[in-house]
This record gives sequence, structure tokens and C-alpha cells, in this order.
Amino acid sequence: MTRRHARTLLAVAAGLTMAGLSQAGEVEVLHWWTSGGEAKAASALKATLQGKGHTWKDFAVAGGGGDSAMTVLKSRVVSGNAPAAAQIKGPSLQEWAAEGVLANIDDVAKAEKWDSLLPPVVANVMKYKGNYIAAPVNVHRVNWLWANPEAFKKAGAKVPTSWDEFFVAADKLKAAGIIPIAHGGQNWQDFTTFESVALGVGGAEFYKKALVQLDQASLKSPTMEKVLTTFKKVHSYTDKNAPGRDWNLATAMVIKGEAGMQLMGDWAKGEFIAAGKAPGKDFVCAAAPGTAKSFTFNVDSFAMFKLKNDANVKAQKDLAAAIMSTDFQEVFNLNKGSIPVRLNMDLAKFDDCAKLSSKDFVDTAKTGALVPSVAHGMAVPSAAAGAIQDAVSQYWNSDKMTAAEAMAKIATAAQTK
Ligand code: GAL
Repeated sequence: MTRRHARTLLAVAAGLTMAGLSQAGEVEVLHWWTSGGEAKAASALKATLQGKGHTWKDFAVAGGGGDSAMTVLKSRVVSGNAPAAAQIKGPSLQEWAAEGVLANIDDVAKAEKWDSLLPPVVANVMKYKGNYIAAPVNVHRVNWLWANPEAFKKAGAKVPTSWDEFFVAADKLKAAGIIPIAHGGQNWQDFTTFESVALGVGGAEFYKKALVQLDQASLKSPTMEKVLTTFKKVHSYTDKNAPGRDWNLATAMVIKGEAGMQLMGDWAKGEFIAAGKAPGKDFVCAAAPGTAKSFTFNVDSFAMFKLKNDANVKAQKDLAAAIMSTDFQEVFNLNKGSIPVRLNMDLAKFDDCAKLSSKDFVDTAKTGALVPSVAHGMAVPSAAAGAIQDAVSQYWNSDKMTAAEAMAKIATAAQTK
């Protein structure tokens, strides 16, 4: 036997053993992580699954915020062809589970002790009638402001901590020929800005009453009117090409210094990092104006669908277990811009933005200023959330609608069942 022949045989044998031991299966995974930082994070998930000897079938549907992905998912499930795992979050998990299409992964969760590794606020969302149906990957903070320090220096402006300061800085950037705020005019991005303004102007208690409990009196209050007026003023500092722009292209404008700031969750940090930029030096992360003591959370998770093939079920469970491992939580979140969802992880490799996020996540959980993101599907059932977002975008894009008219529209939208 030649040496090469022997090596080939050995390799084949090793492959067979691996396949035999782990019952190699295939996992089709639906996600919308296609931007620079997102794609790197998705690759980490793929590598983790492949490391267990299984096959990854990529089902990526481009479109920030996942609206397109959810539309495609619905049609696949309706036609009886669900993927093994899909990026589904917040109350939508309950909606899908109620359809009877999600798998119970309690055996994995018990073996891996998820109840003791997850904050209860997250664990509860991952369960339907007491059983785990999804695995969480991260905690994104949504209420961030990203700034280009060079642009600020050129404009003689200071990174704002209140909405009053925000408009002072925006005027200075504008005077220096820099687009003050990079924005992408899509519903979910409009609402990402809106909820940060609501939190900064109204505070966490107002945010919870108006946007989470959908309390009619709060939705039609003077505070809401002030939120809407402030929000609309931000529009005048965006550029004329904003409509339809993808969020990562808006981030690229800040990276290049064409724009001074962006209001966006920390998946934007994934873009800065993927572009080789260093936090504190090439870009600044600051809480969105007026929100330093609050935290808007957005937890990404993968729901597991019922499957028939045993090997694929095994692969799906291996994926769920791997998602919660310390190795995966570290490498994934370093690329994604988020922080691990698993408690008590060592953050030594994480940057100061992530460390601040982690500290604020813990602190705000104690003060009651930890609030769910409505823009990212954490708080409100999908029908009402969609109607409210439409109303907010109509106001953002209209030259005529007053804040009072917008308030009435949003309050009606909040009653959508
Ligand atoms: C969010 C999602 C993030 C990020 C962002 C932009 O809804 O939770 O992971 O990818 O959309 O696509």
C-alpha cells in the first residue's frame, strides 16, 4: 500500500466514524445576516455546526430587520417545507409555537442547564407552555449613537448626551458640510430612531406605558407629542438619498466620515469592526441622547421547527446546544457587535462598548429601565407592531401630517389585533 493510499483510507475511516458517532445530519437555517459583520457572525454559526460533523444549508434572505425573511418563512411553512431553524424573536416565537410547528428542545436545555445560564427575562421568551422551543444567541442594545470622531473634530462639535445637544451638534456638522445623521428610510429603521427618541425624551416609564403596554392615554399625551416633534426634527438632518437605504450603507457613511452620526443598534459595531475600525479611536459608541441610564434590548434567537428525519433532528439539537456554548457565544458576539446572552461569561476579549453594554444590561435590570425593543420585535405582537411602525413611518415621510394627527394614527394602530 502506498503512503498516500494509506492516508486516504485513514481519512475515509475517520470520516465514517465521525458520521457514525454523530449521526451526521443537515440543518437548514433561515436568517437575514448578510451585511459584513452579520455574515462573519453567521459563518461562526455555520463553522460551529460543521465542527459537529453536520451539514449547514444556508437559507439567507437579505433585508435588515428581517421583514423579508419573515415573509419567505411564512410561505415555506405554509407549504409544509419549514427549515430546521429560523431566526425568530420575541412574541413572534409564541405566535409560531401556537401554530404547532415548533419542536420541543427541553432535553437539550435540561442537559445544558439553560435555566441557570440565562436571565429569566430571556428564558421565558424562549419557552412555550414551559418548554424551550428556541435558543438565544445574543443581547443587542438598540439605543446607541455611533459617531465619527474626525467628523466631529472638523465640525468643532461634541458627541451629544441629550436631544438639545444632539441638535447643536447636528447644526455644526451641517455647517461643516457633513451629513449630520446617516439614515436608511425603511420602516424598521425609522422606528429604531423613533424608539430611541421616545426613550430619551419620555424616559423608561413612559416608554413602557406607551410602547409596550400600548396605554391609550400615554399614546395621546403631551409627552408623546414632544417625542413626535423631536423625532420629526431629526428628519431634517438626514440626506435626500435616505429613502430605502440599507442600514449598513448608512453605517458606511459614518465609517467614511461622509456622515457624523447614526442611531442604530450595536449590529452597526459589527460593520465598524469588519471594516477594521477600532472603538474609541476610529468610531465612538455612546448611548442615544438622554438614554444613558436605560437599555433597549433585542435578543436574537433561533426557533427550531418540527422535523421528521432522525439524523436531522440530532443535528438540530446539536446546533441548539452549540449556540449556548461559551466558545460560540464569544466568537459570534465578537463579530456581531452584541454581548453574550449566557450569564457570567468572561468578557476579556470584548471591547469597551460591549463592556458598557453588559454593565448597563445588569444595572438597568435592577432599576426597571431595561426595556424591550419594539422596532426589533421584542415587545408587541406582530400585527400591532407592524401597524404602529407604518403609522410612524408615514409621519416621518409626510410634509403635512402634524404631531397631533400622527398621535391619533399611532393610538388607533396600537389597537390592531
Ligand atoms: C435586527 C437583528 C439584528 C440585526 C439587525 C439588522 O432585527 O436582531 O441581529 O441583524 O436586525 O439586520
